[in-house]
Amino acid sequence: MTRIEVDGAAVDVPEGSSLLTAVREAGIELPSLCYDDRLSPAGSCRTCLVRADGKIAAACITPAASGTRVETATDGLRTLRREAVEVIVSALPPRALATDGRSELAHACESLGIGPETARGAGGRGGDASHPYVHLDRDLCIACGRCVRMCAEVQGTFALTLVGRGADTVVAPGTGGPWAESDCVACGGCVDTCPTGALTEPGPATGLTSASRPSPEPTRTTCGYCGVGC
Ligand code: FES
Repeated sequence: MTRIEVDGAAVDVPEGSSLLTAVREAGIELPSLCYDDRLSPAGSCRTCLVRADGKIAAACITPAASGTRVETATDGLRTLRREAVEVIVSALPPRALATDGRSELAHACESLGIGPETARGAGGRGGDASHPYVHLDRDLCIACGRCVRMCAEVQGTFALTLVGRGADTVVAPGTGGPWAESDCVACGGCVDTCPTGALTEPGPATGLTSASRPSPEPTRTTCGYCGVGC
């Protein structure tokens, strides 16, 4: 075990843990929009910023070295984390936060006091409802890459990628066409990890109803290829 200090309290975490793990172990919640503890960390969203031994660091990609002194609760750090989330949210349409607090993003905004007025994106990037079990709403994609890593690292399918540049970057099937023609095996891992609701299971809210969805073909199988665990 490794012992570090989080906001003055000693915290023991297994060797090789990140500062984010230690912070969570201390019972402190930080936004962490590109992080899923089932996946390798990307460190791209900058929403989990802390101060480690006096230096600003993304907690998810910073190793918890023995004796590190971590601060999470100063006004300056709260402002940095809030600004990081605001930058992300400002590119999204208002409905990004109209998800009844169910999405991870909406929860983070709620905890940081970020209201729907911050979401000023025009939207209009469209979606992909071609697949019977996964629906993409590009306007809600924040390019965190969690779905891409879930597909590759857990599922082992490598069906997804990020396309576009800058604020226009979104997830897309690696094959380039519609989702229905991609290598997606419908494991649901991408939907499960998506922090914004950009990826969902089709249902009444997406315009696809159970009546319009094709029925799955009964088949005998041993689900040995799927790492998600349904
Ligand atoms: Fe740490 Fe995104 S969660 S940088």
